[in-house]
Amino acid sequence: MSENVKAFINPKSGSIRITGTVDFVDADGNITSTVENPKFCGCGLSKEKPFCDGSHKEKTQIS
Ligand code: FES
Repeated sequence: MSENVKAFINPKSGSIRITGTVDFVDADGNITSTVENPKFCGCGLSKEKPFCDGSHKEKTQIS
C-alpha cells in the first residue's frame, strides 16, 4: 500500500513542491529516476527545468 504524496503550489512564485517519493517515467512507463520531495518550476524562469532552481526569487523578489 502506497502513501499519497502531497503537492503545494505556491501562489506567489508558482513553484510546485511535492512531499514524498516521485518516480519519473518515460513515454513507455519505465522509471527513469526517483526523486524525494521534488520542487518544480511553475514560473518558467528556472535554468534546470522542470525543477525550481530559485530563479523566481531573483526575477520576482518573492519566495
Ligand atoms: S518557480 Fe520557477 S524558478 Fe522557482
